[in-house]
Amino acid sequence: MKKISGNPYLNKKEGNVLIDTILLNDILSNSTTPLMIFLENRVRDNINSFCRVFKSVFKNFQCFYSFKANFLPEICKIIQSEGIGAELIGLPELNLALKLQFLPNKIIVGGPYLPHDLIEKCIQENIKEIIVYNLNDLIQINSIAKKYHKIQNICIRINSQKYGSKLGIVLDKSKLTKLTNLVKECENIKLITILSHYSTQMNNFGQFKKNVESLIENIKILSDAGINVENINLGGGFPEAVIMPETQLREIANNINSTLSNSEFNFKNIYFEPGRYFIGDAGIFLAKIIKVSEDRWIFLDIGNHICPKFAKCSLRFYNASKINEPHKFKTSIAGIVPTDQDVLAKNYFFTKYLKENDIVMVTNVGAYTLTFSNRFPYTLPKIILVKNRTITEIFDPLRNYDFSLT
Ligand SMILES: Cc1ncc(COP(=O)(O)O)c(C=O)c1O
Repeated sequence: MKKISGNPYLNKKEGNVLIDTILLNDILSNSTTPLMIFLENRVRDNINSFCRVFKSVFKNFQCFYSFKANFLPEICKIIQSEGIGAELIGLPELNLALKLQFLPNKIIVGGPYLPHDLIEKCIQENIKEIIVYNLNDLIQINSIAKKYHKIQNICIRINSQKYGSKLGIVLDKSKLTKLTNLVKECENIKLITILSHYSTQMNNFGQFKKNVESLIENIKILSDAGINVENINLGGGFPEAVIMPETQLREIANNINSTLSNSEFNFKNIYFEPGRYFIGDAGIFLAKIIKVSEDRWIFLDIGNHICPKFAKCSLRFYNASKINEPHKFKTSIAGIVPTDQDVLAKNYFFTKYLKENDIVMVTNVGAYTLTFSNRFPYTLPKIILVKNRTITEIFDPLRNYDFSLT
């Protein structure tokens, strides 16, 4: 059997596509396209490789899955069952994580917008850390914590200094003075962690290095001002696991470790917040060619409404109906949103013959597609979870209407 898209759970078998251990044709005998499939075994394998690598390099490693990558309850449940923590940005995610029994001491919550009800719930539930992107939020957190007679642990997100990045705090002189005063005055908060998340789809150490160096620089600034943090959080940004094999991941972890060891700073714990690495290559779309035009454009029954560019997935396309044929003929792929902007790929190497109703498999769509999907008024795809021989339907638009969190 030959792997497809570098994914051990997608294989060619006698001219067919095998999804885990089920033939694609058997899956489609009970479902129509478009269909979204998640591979449970792949999610678990990705978590295991990530933790194997980082646990062996850092003795004090902690991991928090970034729910925004994919917040489907069944996916988050799998991640919870592997003992991973949660990194959340809002109340709907927090309610879900608590319902799925993520332990409060394995949940960190924060982002650019911290409404009162979110902070209150975090404090009531004894959430491990609140992550602050804006110093003014500290005042509100302190006053709510005071009301509940608690001391809330805080992480501050510093601006990673990536060109154009607007997220996080730039510790210039005035911000530093403000932070120093707040830390002194606010008795119900305790600043213990510093976070820097650099970018997405980082596939070389250079980008991780910039993030670590920026973090070290900021730790020094804080320490010179008399603020000593205990923990560092390097965020996420890893590509899909098929794009970054375990050997490369290990190289990156080792390089992060040596960059940190070369600094004079000692830390208690190191956190990571992967999203895409866990789930990106565990998701695939099955779509159908609905139109072929003379100039080798094909139109699929999915589009940027459900497979958005914003998700920055490493998209790969396969003609599943002609899987054994060479994919070496340039083809452009459009979606069904009625705008010329709905292009999924241009000049992509695909099969010579293109036929209406051919099934196209799109891989690496597990992360951020649903998060960034929009309300263009097409019916949403059904979503199934495949594990070994078992298929579980996890979303049916006719029954569930929408997968948004409330
Ligand atoms: C602060 C933070 N942590 C973690 C992540 C997850 O990133 P990824 O899915 O690229 O690993 C993001 C994504 O934007 C983020 O902003």
